[in-house]
Order: sequence, then C-alpha cells, then structure tokens
Amino acid sequence: MKCLVTGGAGFIGSNLALELEKLGNEVTAVDNFLSGNKDNLKGFNGKIIEADVSDKDFMIDGKFDVIFHQAAITDPRYPDDEETYNKNINGFKNMIKLAQKNNAKLVYASTAGLYGNGKVPMREDQEKEILSAYGKSKLEIDRMAEKLFEKMNIVGLRYFNVFGPREKFKGRPASMVYHLAKQIRSGKNPRIFKFGEQKRDHIYVKDAVDATIKAANAKKSCIVNVGTGIATDFNELIKILNGILKTDFEPEYFDMPYDPKTYQADTQADTKKAEKLIGFRAKWELKEGIRDYMKWLDKNGW
Ligand SMILES: NC(=O)c1ccc[n+]([C@@H]2O[C@H](COP(=O)([O-])OP(=O)(O)OC[C@H]3O[C@@H](n4cnc5c(N)ncnc54)[C@H](O)[C@@H]3O)[C@@H](O)[C@H]2O)c1
Repeated sequence: MKCLVTGGAGFIGSNLALELEKLGNEVTAVDNFLSGNKDNLKGFNGKIIEADVSDKDFMIDGKFDVIFHQAAITDPRYPDDEETYNKNINGFKNMIKLAQKNNAKLVYASTAGLYGNGKVPMREDQEKEILSAYGKSKLEIDRMAEKLFEKMNIVGLRYFNVFGPREKFKGRPASMVYHLAKQIRSGKNPRIFKFGEQKRDHIYVKDAVDATIKAANAKKSCIVNVGTGIATDFNELIKILNGILKTDFEPEYFDMPYDPKTYQADTQADTKKAEKLIGFRAKWELKEGIRDYMKWLDKNGW
C-alpha cells in the first residue's frame, strides 16, 4: 500500500509511519515540525516532506491508497484560538481534496476531548461538550466527515489519552504517564492536581497505531473511540510507576490552575463501536504498556 502520514514527525504519526513501513508499505511523511521532530523518524526510510498541510494551495504529487491524517495543532491550550481552528479545519479540507483526487481512503485523528465532562463510559453518539478551540475544530471536522460518509471511505478516530515512545517533543501536552515518570526518574515527587482522583483512559501508542491501521480496512465509513475502556486515576498511576521504577515517591498535590470547566476530570471509552466497525480491541494492559515504554526511554533517552 502507498500511504501518506500527515503529522508524520509527531508522536502518533511517527509511530504509525514506522510501523506501516515495517509492515511493508511505501510511506511518505509530511510535517511542518510545529510539535514534531525529525528525531522521531530515526530509522524511517520513506520520504519526508516539510510542508504545512493547511496551506491554501497544499498538494502532494504521487498516488496514495490511504491517507492517515494526524497533523493538527494538538495543544488544547495553544495561545491562538483562531489559528488552531483555522489550521486544523483547512488541513482537513485539503486532505479530503487529496483523498478524492487519489480515490484514497482517509483515516483521520479526532479526539475524546469532544466528550468534555460528559458521562462515562463515553459513547460516540453522546452529547459533546467543547472545552477549547482545539475541541471546536475537531468537532467541526467530525461533522464534515459525517457528511461524506456515503461519498468516500473515511474513518475518524477519537483517541483517548495516548502515551508511549516519541512523545517528548510535545512538551507540556505530552501524557501524564510521561510527565510523572520523568519527575520520579529525576528524584522528585510526582506532582498532580488535588487530590489525584481524576481518571484517564490511558492507551499505549502501540494499540493506538494498531487501531489506526485497522481503520484503513473498515467496511464502512465511521467515527469510533480508540481507548481501552478502563479508567485509572492519577494516584493509582503513581503507584504503578513507583512499582515499575522501583521507587516510593508520594504524590505532591497542588491546586488546579485551570478553570475546572475547561479540564476533563474523567475519560473512559466505550469500546464497542470500534470493536464492531474496525475490529479493534486494546491489547496492552496499562502496567505492561508502561513497562515497555520505560524500557524504551532508558534505551533511547528521556
Ligand atoms: N496523543 C493523544 O493522546 C491524542 C488524543 C486525542 C487526539 N489526538 C490527535 O492525534 C493526532 C496526533 O497527535 P499527537 O499526540 O501525535 O500530537 P503531535 O503534536 O505530536 O503531532 C502532530 C503533528 O502534526 C504536525 N503539524 C501540526 N500542524 C501541521 C500542519 N499544519 N502541517 C503539517 N504538519 C503539522 C506537528 O508538527 C506534529 O508533528 C492529532 O490530530 C491529535 O489531535 C492525540
């Protein structure tokens, strides 16, 4: 298969590009290096194109069977709301054009952020609660996709909280698994909001990549959750990290600096639709995913 991965130097995109290549596909990665980095693509033999996919006249020559659209301004607290919204929307519109020109399948990244502080487990059809310009852009993208369901092969993936190799260039928006592990590793107490009871559906990037590749073979267009179905709170996460890193650090609690209305307290995926429509079920248990990730960090650098 000939594949294009946008945001290919980013966290999920680079893991995806490397895995697609390992599976024997011909892969092109495109990125503007806003939050991605070429270091994430060490060992990648495909073509790397530096470009902004939201540019008015963005186009790539070459024939693609599948476009995996990961590129976006991914920081929900990015300072410019208008830029976040416009670039994310325009990037998606360009991918629709490119997919239609190539008669290619389009698999794109949506987000579980759209469920806001809605009820858990979160179902694809439940009411949405938009907390940021980032969320607003992703909801608009999902709506555009739904209108195209009958016309083209398009799958949206609402990733939950992905963690794993190659996320460090994201900085602050990187996963809590990464931040807490790093604090512990440098001999500090892991810092969490009072009182650590907020929950996340933490999903290992190898599972997220598996779901993304499976989505290319979906029998019909759809939007599905990509999560494990299991929610773990931050106190428990620290216990797991202490166990794996053989440390005994107590959490240091501090007041949340954000308006609680803009912060998701709990996330947990309802996984039934993904299982049915793309045949995906997470394989990595949280503890095993973290163990695998810590080994990777020790070998490749924190
Ligand atoms: N990581 C998560 O937990 C998570 C959760 C929900 C949704 N997502 C979505 O998954 C996708 C990948 O996220 P990620 O975690 O890998 O983040 P990331 O920031 O590491 O990856 C995004 C990549 O896109 C690139 N990019 C941004 N704007 C671009 C543009 N206009 N043109 C070309 N490249 C551009 C960035 O440089 C970066 O490499 C995003 O669409 C994100 O919204 C991620």
